[in-house]
Amino acid sequence: MILFCPPGVYRAQSDTDLLAGHLAHHAGGRHVLDLGTGTGALALTAARAGAASVTAVDLSRRCVAATRFNGLLHRSSVRVHRGDLFEPVRDQRFDVIVANPPYVPSRGAVLPRHTVARSWDGGPDGRAVLDRICDAAAAHLRPDGVLLLVHSEVCDPQVTIDRLATAGLVADVVDRACIPFGPVMRSRAGMLERRGLIPPGERLEELVVVEARRG
Ligand SMILES: C[S@@+](CC[C@H](N)C(=O)[O-])C[C@H]1O[C@@H](n2cnc3c(N)ncnc32)[C@H](O)[C@@H]1O
Repeated sequence: MILFCPPGVYRAQSDTDLLAGHLAHHAGGRHVLDLGTGTGALALTAARAGAASVTAVDLSRRCVAATRFNGLLHRSSVRVHRGDLFEPVRDQRFDVIVANPPYVPSRGAVLPRHTVARSWDGGPDGRAVLDRICDAAAAHLRPDGVLLLVHSEVCDPQVTIDRLATAGLVADVVDRACIPFGPVMRSRAGMLERRGLIPPGERLEELVVVEARRG
């Protein structure tokens, strides 16, 4: 799919593609929420797969504008909101919630808001945004709804599964893909090694797709 991606917006990558395959399987006829939509790649995947409705949220005005533009480009109807995670949809529930959140461990705990690093910086353990999604998703899922997340093994899939269980969702890793470190992970490899988040010399990361439902 050709997508307009202005500066400051995350260009769809391997993590997007891995998640898109699962989303396409679940989206047909369902009400879908894409959290942290970027260019709208996942929102448009859902629309193409025949979703009943697609809602997309991003913190960034540029991402909102890019997603609106890409919706028009592909003649797809996507409601796009600017805001922090579930805040713009606080009273709504969905059949499918999908997110490719920022998950790369970063130096400090303060997350960037106004630079493209907001797309990948996940706080010291990579889990700052991920944990918030795990904690809040159940309240926005319809009874037979499904949550689909992608992240790196570096931020520990078992923590995701346990956190979702605490929130009342049964979760499992349903897909994995091993990819070479991209530029951000390469630039942080030394820091990740020092923190014991990757073994010395490791330059491949495993991406996981986590699927969660009500127990
Ligand atoms: C890794 S990018 C994923 C973009 C797109 N979904 C994809 O898969 O190509 C993460 C996105 O989350 C957005 N984001 C980061 N923190 C957010 C927050 N608290 N609320 C909403 N969006 C957020 C970023 O602006 C960025 O567009």
